Formats: sequence, C-alpha cells, structure tokens
Amino acid sequence: MSSAFQMMTVPKFVSLKKTGRKIVMVTAYDYTMASLVDAAGVDGILVGDSVGMVVQGHSTTLPVTMRQMLYHTEMVGRAVQRALLVADLPFLSYQLGTRQAIRNAGLFLKRTRAQAVKLEQGPAQLEITRALVAAGIPVMAHFGLRPQSIHQLGGYRVTREGEQIIQDALAAQEAGAFAALLEYVPADLARRITEELRIPTIGIGSGPHCDGQILVLHDILGLGRIPRHAKAYLNLAELVRSAVEQFCQEVRDGVFPGPEHSFS
Ligand code: KIV
Repeated sequence: MSSAFQMMTVPKFVSLKKTGRKIVMVTAYDYTMASLVDAAGVDGILVGDSVGMVVQGHSTTLPVTMRQMLYHTEMVGRAVQRALLVADLPFLSYQLGTRQAIRNAGLFLKRTRAQAVKLEQGPAQLEITRALVAAGIPVMAHFGLRPQSIHQLGGYRVTREGEQIIQDALAAQEAGAFAALLEYVPADLARRITEELRIPTIGIGSGPHCDGQILVLHDILGLGRIPRHAKAYLNLAELVRSAVEQFCQEVRDGVFPGPEHSFS
C-alpha cells in the first residue's frame, strides 16, 4: 500500500511540523461528505461542534450535545480511511471536571473511530487536558476565539492578550496537547506561537504562518454566508438550487421519470 493511503496517526500528524509540509484539515459531519474529503487527501477531519450552526441551524454551538456529537462522529468514522479523526467536545461535556471529561472524551474513542478530541482551552482547562492525556486520549487545544464562551466574551471575539495566548499554548503543550488550533488569532501572534511550540498549530482566520489550516466544509463549498477568513472554492448552494429547480420542472412537465427510469 502506498504511504499516501496509510492511516494518519497522532504521532505522524505531529511529525508533519518538522517536515515543513502544511497540514490540511476540514470539518465533516456525515458519511458522504467525510468519504469525499478523506479521498481528497486532507490530513485531518474535525467533527466540529460547528455542526450546531451549519447543520442544525442554531445561532451558537452551545446547544450541541454529547449524544449528537457521538452520532455525527460515528457516521464520519465509517467513512474515514486515511485522515486523522478528531471529535469536538461540546459545551458542558468537560467543564464539570476531569472525571466528566475523561468519561465523555473516552466515549469518542470507545464508540467511534475518533483518534483524538478537541477542547476549547484556557488556564482553567489545563488540568483537564493533563488528565485526558494521562488517560491515553490525545487532545487538540483550541485557542483564540472560543465559541463556547460567547456569552462571557460578549460576542465572537478574542479576549486573551497576545502574551497570555502564547503562555496558554505553551502550558497546553506541557500538559500534553498534541496540537493547537488557533481561531482568529492575529497573524503575527499566530506566527510567534507557531515558532514557540514544538506541536503543530492549525489556523482558522489566523493568517498564513500556522503549520496548517482548517476550514468549515460548508464554507469551502459555498453553502451559506462565507465568513471573511474563509474561501469558497465552489458555489454549491447555487448548484443544489439549480438541480432541484430542474427536477421540479421536469416532474411538472412530465419529462421525469422517462422510460429509462421505469421498470416493466
Ligand atoms: O467546531 C468547529 O468546526 C471548529 C472550527 C471552527 C475549527 O472548532
């Protein structure tokens, strides 16, 4: 089997930093999309709690539950043959303490094909990261804009100062995190964090200097409003609308189904 099709592991993912080859991640939430993005050659797939916004239609990620995350991660896991699969710990699945965090993070590794979890990291979560790593659960630590703290932050903004974020990231690395996800961190600060850390940084809205990049799949595909940090490589919204409009027209005109779609 060629190395291009070997399963990504946490150690291989971490070692990509040394090679200088940029790491690519996307989100996915279901079997069909996960099969396609895995075959496209991404290094990692995140089943993000962004599922609450882009799939469920909520205005924040807060309503997403463990049950829902397990359901989506199971589906994605059935599709993944190559990429590292990371599951997001949803709001209130780890904030109650290390026992709760280990139980919930462990469920992803037990019941799905996830190899790691992601959590929104501040100083208060260091003990949790340490406990998860000690339990054998790889942790990706998420810094910068932390959507699960939206009400405390008063909106989608980064409130920790630059120097604090660097210290937070170094502390998470010492606690055993294998990667740092940087959301909406100013590009120069993301460059400094990337230089300071041994573990890879994966940026979203954090400029070009991170070791890798992640985007929400719906943004790449042009489904819905595209945020400034993202790039739509396709206008899938338009293609879907047009395909379904054609289907409506053909059914109403009696063109579909034709004889080739019917059975005798
Ligand atoms: O939940 C998610 O999809 C995320 C991305 C913004 C990286 O955390």
